[in-house]
Amino acid sequence: MATSPSAVESRHEGTEERAAEPQGPLFPELVGAAPPSPAGPIEAAELAELAAAPDIALPKLAQTLRFSMRQIEFVFKARRELGEVFRMRGVIPGGPIITSHPDHVRSLFTAKPEQAPSLTGESPLRPILGPNSVLTAVGPRHMRQRKLLLPAFHGEAIAQYTEMIDAAAEREIDRWPVSETIALAPRMQAITLDVIMAGIFGVEGKPAPGTPEHALRLAVRKAVNASTWPTSQLTELLHVGREEAMGPLKFGLAMLDRPVYAVIRGRRESPDLDERRDILSLLLQARTEEGEALDDKELRDELLTLVLAGHETTANSLAWAWERLVRNPGPHAALVEAVRRDEEAEERVEATIVETMRNRPVIPIIGRRVQVPWRLGDYGAPPGTAIAMSILLVHHREDVYPDPFAFRPERWLGRKPGTYDWIPFGGGIRRCLGAALAMAEQRVVLTAMARRLDLIADRPRPERAMHRNVTMIPARGARVVVAAKH
Ligand code: HEM
Repeated sequence: MATSPSAVESRHEGTEERAAEPQGPLFPELVGAAPPSPAGPIEAAELAELAAAPDIALPKLAQTLRFSMRQIEFVFKARRELGEVFRMRGVIPGGPIITSHPDHVRSLFTAKPEQAPSLTGESPLRPILGPNSVLTAVGPRHMRQRKLLLPAFHGEAIAQYTEMIDAAAEREIDRWPVSETIALAPRMQAITLDVIMAGIFGVEGKPAPGTPEHALRLAVRKAVNASTWPTSQLTELLHVGREEAMGPLKFGLAMLDRPVYAVIRGRRESPDLDERRDILSLLLQARTEEGEALDDKELRDELLTLVLAGHETTANSLAWAWERLVRNPGPHAALVEAVRRDEEAEERVEATIVETMRNRPVIPIIGRRVQVPWRLGDYGAPPGTAIAMSILLVHHREDVYPDPFAFRPERWLGRKPGTYDWIPFGGGIRRCLGAALAMAEQRVVLTAMARRLDLIADRPRPERAMHRNVTMIPARGARVVVAAKH
């Protein structure tokens, strides 16, 4: 069963169809397929023939609050009552249509960029990350930024980080107490922040106190912690669709901006710039096809995007993996045994990560705004409609994933995930730029933890999902007890 470690990202690099399996999956009954459903751009005449998507029967404010606080219950209930395509009101202008059909997903991922630009340009992240970053820009600017960054995030570029990730994981694990309850999420975050700081700024280990890199690391930790305050949820809602930060967010940003600009200034003057391999140095030397360099504001937006998009997501995906594993003895024992005996370990680790990202996608929803009439199965969407793809609902379709709520890494033994029905990294020209890095980090950290730690749940009850910014994370930080260390 040769599922190569990089199978996941290479499968998703382009929009190619599912490749022929060299061998059949071990558990064919654990992954199925959705019945076909027509989707994509249509003529105005066809739109006139189609029905509008059914509405959720709740006032706007109630929908906004439920979506922000209890997205899981909210979208599952709506799908049970209204079917796989429904419309919600509130949250973003025009009220998005929410879909969970892989064919609809495919139509949006493969659309021409000008027909279905990403909704991230309108998200609450825009006032934080600025309009210039690869995450928040749309159209030609987005393509330009993405082209500049792509080489730094390609699978081969990432392969050189493996040792550094392993060292960061080992350093962190060494510090953990035995027989005490610990929350894994912040500890995973310490590892992924070290990794992203090393990759972006070329700082190995913890940056030395007094350096701008050290100040930046501290500021990022503070900003991420502050985003758990209840007021942050409100701040987030207030910023939907806005260009500029307001109130407390403005102060928070100044705290981040100072060290970011200091780091950029310092690096610009570095005498060995052309020999350095870190992302900031590459970006400082990068030129577009027209020979333009990035200015400081563009660099700031890009660096902040990579630091913020790149470490909390990966950390929480790892936290979810353990939250699931310690409550699922079969998959847990299988992982530990495979890693410690080194028997088909790579495949077992990969299957565990893929199943975690299906069952607990850290980003539960993504969207595009169609500029032309669009068909979604039996329904039509007029130009200008926001269409959200609920990753959570796609990943919990009974027809695609029988017994969808069960955590079963075996689904993926001998099978690669599909491009339109396993979408934790989104897809098409907006697919997560850091997917290869995130997969590499999860592989290395999961393996190190399975090898060295005997972990048990602090309580039998699964942790609830909590929504923070655009992410869905374990509400108690994935608490475990380290029963023994090896
Ligand atoms: C498990 C970890 C991660 C998850 C679940 C995740 C998920 C996502 C998702 C769902 C999107 C939107 C895709 C779309 O709209 O189609 C995205 C975009 C993005 N992610 Fe990630 N991500 C992760 C880690 C990372 C890392 C490590 C980095 C960088 C260091 C990163 C950088 C980005 C960037 C720059 C974009 C914007 C791409 C574009 O719009 O062209 N992410 N990610």
